[in-house]
Amino acid sequence: MNTILVGLQWGDEGKGKVIDVLAKDAQYIVRFQGGNNAGHTVVAGGNTFVFHLLPSGVLHKGKKCLIGNGVVVDPDVLLGEIAALRERGIDVRRRLTVSEHAHVIFPYHRILDGLRETKRVSKIGTTGRGIGPCYVDKATRCGIRVGDLLNPRLFERKLKDNLAEKNEIFRNVFGHKGFAFDHLYETYLAFGRRLKDLVGDTASILHRATVNKKSILFEGAQGTFLDVDFGTYPFVTSSNTIAAGACAGTGVAPTQIDRVIGVVKAYTTRVGEGPFVTEFPGIMGEAIRAKGREFGATTGRPRRCGWFDAVMVRRAVMLNGVDLMAVMKLDVLDTLKTIKVCTAYRYKGKTFRDFPGDLEIMQEARPVYKDFKGWQETTSRLRSYKNLPPQAKAYVRVLEDMCGAKVDIISVGSGREETLFK
Ligand code: GDP
Ligand code: IMO
Ligand code: MG
Repeated sequence: MNTILVGLQWGDEGKGKVIDVLAKDAQYIVRFQGGNNAGHTVVAGGNTFVFHLLPSGVLHKGKKCLIGNGVVVDPDVLLGEIAALRERGIDVRRRLTVSEHAHVIFPYHRILDGLRETKRVSKIGTTGRGIGPCYVDKATRCGIRVGDLLNPRLFERKLKDNLAEKNEIFRNVFGHKGFAFDHLYETYLAFGRRLKDLVGDTASILHRATVNKKSILFEGAQGTFLDVDFGTYPFVTSSNTIAAGACAGTGVAPTQIDRVIGVVKAYTTRVGEGPFVTEFPGIMGEAIRAKGREFGATTGRPRRCGWFDAVMVRRAVMLNGVDLMAVMKLDVLDTLKTIKVCTAYRYKGKTFRDFPGDLEIMQEARPVYKDFKGWQETTSRLRSYKNLPPQAKAYVRVLEDMCGAKVDIISVGSGREETLFK
C-alpha cells in the first residue's frame, strides 16, 4: 500500500502526527517537496520532536527514511537535525538516504529570501529559510544539487558561476556586500563530506521497494493552498504541495500510488500573509490560538485562526483525489457552544459555492456559515471513536458530507495515543 499524505488547508494541519501514526505499517517514509520551511511535530511517550527535513516516521526504528529529489536541502539544518536526534538516542544515519538530485540551499538563498521580503510592498511572510530563491535557481538551471557537493571541481565551477551573478545582484540591487567564494566553498565541501554516505539514488531505492511490494508513505509538507499553482498565489510556497507533487518529487510513477490521505484541522489556521475568508476577528482568534497552541513549529510566529472552510477543503479533496481524511485537533473545539462551518462565499451580491480562482474575490469575500451545536465535553481522554459525543460525531459527518471524502482518523490530542480510528 503506497500512500500520499498531504495537508488540505494552509499547512500545520497535523501531518507529522499522522505520518508517525501510519509509519508503523510502512517500510519507507519519503519527503517529496519543500524544505525546512516545514515543521512537523510528533509527540511520542510525552517527548516532543519537531522535524524540518527528516521524515516524521523516523522515530520508528528500522524504517527507511528518504529525502526525495523534489526537496530543497539546507545541509547545515539536516546535519543538525541528525545530530540532535542522535543525542536523544535515535541514530538515523544507517537508514536515511538523501537524493543526489535534491537542490541545496545556500546562505545567499536565505539572505535573498529576507531581502526580497523587505523590499516587497505586498509581503508574503515567508519562513525566511531560502526556499523560494533555491527553487528559482532550480528552475533557471543554475542550482547546485546535493550530488554536486561530492564533486569538488564541478562544485567549484557551479559556485563560481552563481557567485559572479548573485554578488552583482546583492551589491547593485540590495546594497549587500555579497559572498566570498573560499569560505562558502570550503564550508559546503565539508558538508558534502559529512553527507557523503547518505547521498544516493532515491528513485531507484523506491522503485525496488515497489517491486518488492513494500509500503511507501509520502509525507507532504505545507498544504494545498500553499501550492505554487493551486494555492492563494502569490501568498504560497514555491513547490507543488498537492498529491501530484509526490511523483515528480520522488520519481515514483503515478501508477504505483494506492491512496491519498488528506489532513485537515477541525478549524483553519494560516501563518504568513494572504487571504483568509473565515479568519476569526479579535478575541475568538486569541482563544483558539491559546487552546490549540497555534504558534508556528518553524518560526514561532502566531498562527492566524478561523472556522473550518468547506469551500476550500472541497476544492482540496478534488485537487488531491483524497480517498480518506484525517480530522485533527477536534479537542480544541470541546468547549464551544456553537461551531460554524463556511459553506459558501459572498462577493458583490453573488454566492460562490466553488473556490474562486480570483485572489481579489478571496480577499474581499464574506463567509456564509452554517451553525452546528458544540458537544461541550472533553474528548482528549477518549480512546475509541464510539465514545465520541454524538454532536462531535455529527460534526465529523458534516465535514465528510460538505467536503466529499470519508474521515477515518480523528485526533483529539497531540500524543500518538490520542487518535481515534473510525
Ligand atoms: P504539521 O506541519 O502539519 O505536521 O503540523 P504542526 O506540527 O506544524 O502543527 C500541529 C500542532 O498541533 C502540533 O503542535 C501538534 O503537536 C499539535 N496536534 C496535532 N494533533 C493534535 C490534536 O488532535 N489536538 C491537539 N490539541 N493538538 C494536536
Ligand atoms: P508545514 O509543512 C504553514 C508559509 C509561510 C509563508 C508561505 C511561503 O509545517 O505545514 P516559504 O518560506 O515556503 O517561502 O513561505 O508559506 N509556509 C507554511 N505555513 N506550514 C508550513 O509547513 C509552511 N511552510 C511555508 O508562512 O506564508
Ligand atoms: Mg507545521
